[in-house]
Amino acid sequence: MSVVDKTTAVQDNARPRGGESWALCLEAAETVARQAGVVIREAIKGEKQVMVKSSMVDLVTETDQKVEKLIINYLKQQFPTHSFIGEESVADGQGCSLTNNPTWIIDPVDGTTNFVHGFPFVAVSIGLAVNKKVEVGVVYSCVADKMYTARKGHGAFCNGRPLKVSKVTELSRSLLITEMGSSREPESMAIRMENIHNLVCIPCHGIRQLGSAALNLCSVAAGEAEAYFEFGIHCWDMAAGVLLVEEAGGVIVDTTGGPFDLMSQKIIAANCPAIATSIADTLKEVAVGRDGMQT
Ligand code: IPD
Ligand code: CA
Repeated sequence: MSVVDKTTAVQDNARPRGGESWALCLEAAETVARQAGVVIREAIKGEKQVMVKSSMVDLVTETDQKVEKLIINYLKQQFPTHSFIGEESVADGQGCSLTNNPTWIIDPVDGTTNFVHGFPFVAVSIGLAVNKKVEVGVVYSCVADKMYTARKGHGAFCNGRPLKVSKVTELSRSLLITEMGSSREPESMAIRMENIHNLVCIPCHGIRQLGSAALNLCSVAAGEAEAYFEFGIHCWDMAAGVLLVEEAGGVIVDTTGGPFDLMSQKIIAANCPAIATSIADTLKEVAVGRDGMQT
């Protein structure tokens, strides 16, 4: 009988620096995302106590808070030296600072408005950034039971099947995704609408809005849409998804077309540089804040 030393196998293949095993981190993120998914799937059917945060359309429920605690407690036990940024912890006044220390960036329920209404695009999003670069990403679409996973340099997968972005290279043949976000400030709403108008009239094939930034990024990674852009999202909405897009062969840039910054509250994710650039050239900038800063 041959005995495989699992510890050594994992170490050899997945301890690229600092003695950390990103493969083990991915495994832990997937395990706890599934546990979170069980809680969300059960809760989505029932009555919810809905509270508001930054605006009347920025919602939170007891499930968001409960699931975030579940995820952080689990990961803290496994990785006691790591740092944490969680959407609901930040809303509760805890810090949102991204350092070089391995940092878990967590959205316990991405698509909270969908969750409140029972609209089934709801995901758990867990990213791990190391030296400010995302090393591990897990997005669990809990109603659809689709587990999206990625580790830097090792590809992106959905339920174990490799993901590849679309091959389309013209904006005029693209399906795009965007979101209105959770601010209804009239000046920025006008620019958002103008951006949509200008892109639709290029014309592109269409623009979709499904209510989960993490799942929008997964759609680009899976080749179901050519690109996604948004102003006003947060690091927890995009940390895991950006790695999925990159590992599926796509590109992530700022809305100006320049280098992407995870804390900048804006993003273009696309299947190829040509489409990313065409979108950046069309977009008018919406003023947004910055994660980790008081606004
Ligand atoms: C929101 C969703 C939505 C996006 C917002 C996010 P939440 O996250 O991802 O699609 O437009 O910018 O804040 O509040 O449902 O976790
Ligand atoms: Ca959320």
